[in-house]
Amino acid sequence: MAIAVYPGSFDPIHNGHIDVIERAARIFDRVIVALANNDAKTPCFSFEERRLMVEKALKNFANVETDILSGLLIDYAHKRGAGVIVRGLRAVSDFEYEFQMALMNRRLGGDIETFFLVPSEDHTFISSRLVKEVARLGGDVDSFVPPHVKRELIKKLL
Ligand code: PNS
Repeated sequence: MAIAVYPGSFDPIHNGHIDVIERAARIFDRVIVALANNDAKTPCFSFEERRLMVEKALKNFANVETDILSGLLIDYAHKRGAGVIVRGLRAVSDFEYEFQMALMNRRLGGDIETFFLVPSEDHTFISSRLVKEVARLGGDVDSFVPPHVKRELIKKLL
């Protein structure tokens, strides 16, 4: 069985993430969406808030599950029997960071491949940071996040 891990902070999950998960779910038998709990960044939403938003957004995907990522991603992937780490690539600006992470992960655990997926062009400009900024300033985020995430953004930021 081909198992892939899609890790991230998902602060919050947006349509670009969901697009990548949908593509991964068509390619791999099982996709584990691993929500980082010990990221260096300080998230806007608590771990529990992010987890609930992710789970609700993914409830219709039969072969996708959500889990907690703590510790090194490569150790987590090994523990879960995943052979692949999925990451989304939106633009050239993502490349340097993603390339560095892929090579670090290869050095740490060479049998696991990083697999890059490109979301639809409708979603390539969406990021959690920009979605939060637009929401905080009263802009319309309807086409960037699912309705339940929009509600949480408004509750948290307005
Ligand atoms: O969505 P993000 O914030 O770009 O996700 C970053 C994430 C969670 C994938 C990355 O920080 C990560 O892998 N964290 C787990 C700790 C780890 O393994 N760090 C070394 C990565 S090379």
